[in-house]
Amino acid sequence: MKVRSDAHPALHDLEPSVDAFLAELLRGLSRRPKSIAAKFFYDEIGCQLFDEICSLDEYYLTRTEMGILREKVGEICDLFGPECRLVEFGSGSNDKTRIMLDHLHAPAAYVPVDIARENLLRCSARLAHIYPELCITPVCADFTTAFTLPDTPRPVRRTVAFFPGSTIGNLEPAEAENFLRRISLLCGAGGGLLIGVDLKKDRLTLERAYNDARGVTARFNLNLLTRINRSFGAGIRRDKFQHHAFYNEEFGRIEMRLVSLVEQTIQLNGTTFYFQEGEHIVTEHSYKYSVDEFAKLAGRSGWAVKSLWTDDAKLFSVHYLAVE
Ligand code: AVJ
Repeated sequence: MKVRSDAHPALHDLEPSVDAFLAELLRGLSRRPKSIAAKFFYDEIGCQLFDEICSLDEYYLTRTEMGILREKVGEICDLFGPECRLVEFGSGSNDKTRIMLDHLHAPAAYVPVDIARENLLRCSARLAHIYPELCITPVCADFTTAFTLPDTPRPVRRTVAFFPGSTIGNLEPAEAENFLRRISLLCGAGGGLLIGVDLKKDRLTLERAYNDARGVTARFNLNLLTRINRSFGAGIRRDKFQHHAFYNEEFGRIEMRLVSLVEQTIQLNGTTFYFQEGEHIVTEHSYKYSVDEFAKLAGRSGWAVKSLWTDDAKLFSVHYLAVE
């Protein structure tokens, strides 16, 4: 179904420019090891592939977190109280959002924040159709940079940030601390944060989640090269790179890479980058925390832990934090 453009809730548009993307790429590919930030996975195809990852057998994260949210949503919404403004970071396709929206007590507004503009518009329009009474004010932005919240016409008793999916794991621990502190300022006094955090566990379970049998994660990773080719006419050969993901136990993180299968050069807007055979680009770090490690991180960042829920197998955790 084609959605009429005037059906879209008004967008607060701070989408990063193609120039900013290029500047970050040139900087990342000049580093040793070469790196590209994980936020650049999410073009239209990247969003689709990510949704596919979320329904894979091996990718336990999404279904486990949704199970916790479904079971605890009544308790969670009581903690939020009435007339809260829910600000979601990396709202994606809104599957977890809907669990919350179905139970919130008279929400003042829902503010989805996402870097993927088209997906954000499409998903916000669909939500507006399902929740016609809800005030939805989408923000297209890179949420790792500072941005302001759009005005809310209805009175707000509490601003609650919603950051599910363990996306916090994409940030280096020092960055995560800064980010959490910034959200505490954004939410202000009385504010809350409901955050999903993937837990440390055995290597096999972790590595399977990022090396699925159908190769969806590999396509998700390699799509980054296709996106760069489309944006900058780079002509990078996808078949000359290979997906690689493994658990680095020392750092407590999954590392995802694109490994060059041959010695080669790639051209990006007039700059040449040389790859040795076997040299890689780091495309994602996905940090895993113990419950205590995360609570300490939150405590250093202006938050106090109010409640914590996990599944029985202790695969995944959901924390409710309050601004100190
Ligand atoms: C969206 C960052 C939580 O790290 O598990 C999934 C992204 N990467 N498979 C994750 C991802 C490869 C995902 N996060």
